[in-house]
Amino acid sequence: MASSPTIYRSSTTAPVNIAVVKYWGKRDTVLNLPTNSSLSVTLSQGDLRAHTTATCSESYSPQPDSLVLNGQPEDIQASKRTLACLLSLRSLRAKLESADSSLPKLSSYPLRIASKNNFPTAAGLASSAAGFAALVRAIADLYELPHTPEQLSLIARQGSGSACRSLMGGYVAWRAGIQEDGSDSMAQEVAPASHWPEMRALILVVSAEKKAISSTAGMQVTVKTSDLFKSRVEQTVPKHMTLMEQAIRERDFQLFAEVTMRDSNSFHAVCRDSWPPIDYLNDVSLAACRVVEAINGDGKYYCAYTFDAGPNPVIYYLEGAAAKVEGTLRVLLHHVEGWPPSHAGFTQPLAESGKELTKAERTLAAGISRVICSRVGGAPERTSEHLL
Ligand code: PMV
Repeated sequence: MASSPTIYRSSTTAPVNIAVVKYWGKRDTVLNLPTNSSLSVTLSQGDLRAHTTATCSESYSPQPDSLVLNGQPEDIQASKRTLACLLSLRSLRAKLESADSSLPKLSSYPLRIASKNNFPTAAGLASSAAGFAALVRAIADLYELPHTPEQLSLIARQGSGSACRSLMGGYVAWRAGIQEDGSDSMAQEVAPASHWPEMRALILVVSAEKKAISSTAGMQVTVKTSDLFKSRVEQTVPKHMTLMEQAIRERDFQLFAEVTMRDSNSFHAVCRDSWPPIDYLNDVSLAACRVVEAINGDGKYYCAYTFDAGPNPVIYYLEGAAAKVEGTLRVLLHHVEGWPPSHAGFTQPLAESGKELTKAERTLAAGISRVICSRVGGAPERTSEHLL
C-alpha cells in the first residue's frame, strides 16, 4: 500500500514593533517602498505576538492555498500583499529545488496557513507587522531557506512596510534604499535587545476608538497634499535617524526620549498638514502627552510618548524609572485591566491618593480601557506548538 504524502510543517512566533522614527509615505505603492528610513523597538513576544503555522503537502492538491486568521478564513486571492509574499518565498524555494533535484518539490504544493495573535484585535494595535513577519518566517523555515533576516525583510516589506522590522529583535532600522526595484530597502539590526535590555514600553489602549483612516490610505493623502512632508523627508527624518542611532549606541535615554517625542509630533504634524487633514490623536492622546510632560517636569526625561496611526499612547522608559513612571500612571489608571501583579508595589487606588487631579489626568483616567506592559525583546522564534 502506498504511504500517504508527507505533510510538511513549521511554526513561528513573531513580535510587534513600535517605531521611534516613523515610516510615513510610500515612493512605490506596489513594492511598498518608503519615502524615508525608520527605526523601531521590537517588543517582547511574552507580551504581544503573532503565532503562525505554515504547512504544505502534495495531498492538498488541487485545493488552492488557504489562510485562517484568528479563526476566520481569509481570501488570499483578494490580498495582493499576501500573494506577493507567497510568490517571492516560492520562487526562492524553487531555486533551491532546481539546484538540488533530491529536494521535495514543496514550491509546487498548496500551502495551508493558520495564524493568531495573543492580543485582542479590539486593543487597536496594528497587528500587520507581527502577522506578516510570522507568515514570512514560518514559510521560510518550512522551505528551509538559507536566507538571512535582512534578505527575508525584503519579502515581509511587501506584506506590510513595518513588518520588515519585526523579523529582528532589539533596535531595528528600515533603510529606505534608493534602488527602483527595492532591492536595498530592507531592515537592519541597529543593536540587539541585550545591548539596552532596560527599555520598557507601556501601551495605553484608548477606549471607544473610532475607525481611523488606514495607514496606507493616510500615507497617500500626505504624500500628495502635505507641504510640510517634504521637509520631514528631506531634513527631519535624516536628522532623527542619526540622533536615534547615536542614542541607542550610547544608551542615552535623554536623547532617545527627545527624538522619540519630536518624531511622533513631526509625523502627526504632517498628518494634520495633509488635505483633508488626518487626525489620529484625540483628547485622550493629548492628555497622555500632558501627563508624560508632567512626569518629566524637572527637566529630565523619565519617559517618552509616541503614537502610530491611531490614538493609543505608547510610553517608553527605562527600568530604573519604572517606580516613577508606572507608579504615577498606575495611580491614575488603577481601575483598568492589564497591570501585572508584580506591579502591586506601585498600587495606590485613585480615591486614596488624596490628590487633586489635573484636567489631563482626569481625561486620561476616563479614556483608557486597558494597559499592556512590555519591554524590548527578541527576533521571531521557531516553536513546536502547531496550529494545524
Ligand atoms: O506598516 P504599515 O503600512 O501599517 O504602516 C505603519 C506606519 C506607522 O505605524 C504609523 C509608523 C511605523 O513606522 O510603524
